[in-house]
Amino acid sequence: MRTIDIIAKKRDGEALAAEEIAWLIAGYTRGEIPDYQMAAWAMAVVLRGMDVRETADLTLAMARSGTMLDLHAHAPLTVDKHSTGGVGDKTTLLLAPLVAAIGLPVAKMSGRGLGFSGGTIDKLESIPGFRTDLALAAFCRAVREVGLVIAAQTADLAPADKRLYALRDVTATVESIPLIAASIMSKKLAAGTDCIVLDVKYGSGAFVRTPEQARLLAQTMVGIGQHAGRRVAAVISSMEQPLGSAIGNALEVREALAALQGHGPADLRELCLVLGTRLLLLAGKTNDATVARQMLEQALADGTAWQKFRQMVANQGGDLAALDDPQRLPQAPVVMPLRAPRSGYITAIDTQVAGLVVNELGGGRKHKDDTIDPAVGLVPAARLGDAVEAGTLLLEIHAAGEADAARVAPRLLAAYTLEDQPTPPPPLILEVLE
Ligand code: URA
Repeated sequence: MRTIDIIAKKRDGEALAAEEIAWLIAGYTRGEIPDYQMAAWAMAVVLRGMDVRETADLTLAMARSGTMLDLHAHAPLTVDKHSTGGVGDKTTLLLAPLVAAIGLPVAKMSGRGLGFSGGTIDKLESIPGFRTDLALAAFCRAVREVGLVIAAQTADLAPADKRLYALRDVTATVESIPLIAASIMSKKLAAGTDCIVLDVKYGSGAFVRTPEQARLLAQTMVGIGQHAGRRVAAVISSMEQPLGSAIGNALEVREALAALQGHGPADLRELCLVLGTRLLLLAGKTNDATVARQMLEQALADGTAWQKFRQMVANQGGDLAALDDPQRLPQAPVVMPLRAPRSGYITAIDTQVAGLVVNELGGGRKHKDDTIDPAVGLVPAARLGDAVEAGTLLLEIHAAGEADAARVAPRLLAAYTLEDQPTPPPPLILEVLE
């Protein structure tokens, strides 16, 4: 087989055979196929798509590119959650300790930022000392002893996705349902968790724009998971505006810490309760959704979720003093307010722009090996549907310098649509798929 023939076949819109996909992924994993050919192939997939069978074959090839974990020696049942990516999405930081506090071991391998969306690993690394690069033995020990671990994908877990993910991030090849589905599900299958809840986001700050595309992505992933014998549910949620009131690594950690102590934003809390309810049901903790939600609310209210988070941070080397005093988390030297230019109702927010701006401020990567600035970001103050006056604070820009903040301000301002008549904001949760 030749890589160029496989690229050309996909470029011309043909379906690839299972053997071709397996050969391509194995060759890329071994480093025999260069990034430039893989990038051309990924772009062909973005433009031409893949059918369900090809997507399933791609998922399995990527999952089998490394170790297929079996965690049953460490916990009888483990759970995991995955988001398709959004802006301000710090759900994992709240949801994982929340369900772990109820006694469901969470074994989570997370990613770094991708395109305009942030990544849980980048966020957690803004806690001084927090280690995300755990060896497999340490990961398993944390599952056994803490019942909660969030770590970077180990090098031997779905290594094909690790390489392809970083490549897609910098080659404009993220927005593709088959590539996203295979990327997410290959990691989930290889990580060996029994129950998986998927947070599939649609809207101006998601990789898929419409509820229909989100439904297709959700169905594809649920189908792949169930075919592989896992218990999977998906929640379709809106990303027509940033989640919560913080975008950027340390800012999001700060917001998650507040939420864990009962002071977080309502949308973040609600999404976590809905996702957590699905996990409790999948894991058989109860078969009553109302009871499941009450259990989660209780774990938040009585501080057990907060204690579980602290336990995880301590176990992974993080500085507990930074949790107790979030002022010790990285802070940007410049905070610039962005104000509404006129009065009106906020009827749309180009959320992707907000994510891209955070990247540009230094909170994300332009090149695979860039280091990021954990302190920078945005703190939105106004939400869809809000009525604002000229001069009302829309958001704060947290930047490394005045010039950076001033440079991005016009783009952020243009991301807000203000109209004379209000439009009702979309519901946070569109539907649940099982
Ligand atoms: N999250 C992933 O893990 N992969 C994608 O491709 C998109 C979001």
